[in-house]
Amino acid sequence: MAGAGQPSQTGDAKFDNWQSMWTNSNGKPGWQVDVVDTYLQKHVSRLTGDKESITILVSWCGKCLDMIWLAEQGHTVVGVEYTEYAVNQFFSDNSIPFSMIERDGFKVYAAKERKITIYCGDMFKFTSSISGCMFDAVWDHHALGACNPSQRQTHIGVLRSILKPQGKILLSHFEYDPTEHSGPPFSLWPALIQELFKEHFSVELVEHIDRSDGSTAKRFNLSWNKRPIHLLQSLN
Ligand SMILES: C[S@@+](CC[C@H](N)C(=O)[O-])C[C@H]1O[C@@H](n2cnc3c(N)ncnc32)[C@H](O)[C@@H]1O
Repeated sequence: MAGAGQPSQTGDAKFDNWQSMWTNSNGKPGWQVDVVDTYLQKHVSRLTGDKESITILVSWCGKCLDMIWLAEQGHTVVGVEYTEYAVNQFFSDNSIPFSMIERDGFKVYAAKERKITIYCGDMFKFTSSISGCMFDAVWDHHALGACNPSQRQTHIGVLRSILKPQGKILLSHFEYDPTEHSGPPFSLWPALIQELFKEHFSVELVEHIDRSDGSTAKRFNLSWNKRPIHLLQSLN
């Protein structure tokens, strides 16, 4: 989808590409970091409304440590991730025992003694009847930003369908000159986020960080790179 004054991008990541990025790098693809996200920690109270225990979905979760941190804060965490290699590494890297069952087209990995469940499968097919609950909040860190442009509205539709009324999304992604890289990660700029969400969400740009000297700018040879963080709240 083109819009808000920027050219469209044509990059396209298929399931095979994601799987091989995980396996070819031995579980260390370029986006993977071994720390909890700084901006999640900084803005989590906006997402939770300072409630002690809410239900949070982590979309396209990979093996991010954010899930462990959110569970340690007292929240119930559900991740959805297509690549099984990443899910297995999440549990083995962090020595978390788990059980696994197959249900509704997903492999459901449930941590023992921690409130973390990961549904391994295609999030475009994820529903609240599969999870058995609606969610208070979503942490979307490089999920919409990694999503092929033609699938963005489908991704947003899934988020809407699993969120409770007034549910919130903390959204983090990259913004750069889209003529410099075909994606993923795709460039998403604040006016485009407004356009994509405004019909069903209030949209607040919480922070707009300059990451021009960061690893993503270097990796893709970008002349500048920013990281917009948005808080979106369902109007339903
Ligand atoms: C850029 S990574 C981001 C991972 C994680 N959010 C993070 O920031 O560390 C995108 C992840 O989405 C997964 N993915 C891609 N398409 C998916 C889909 N349709 N459903 C669930 N996961 C998907 C990929 O396997 C990959 O692990």
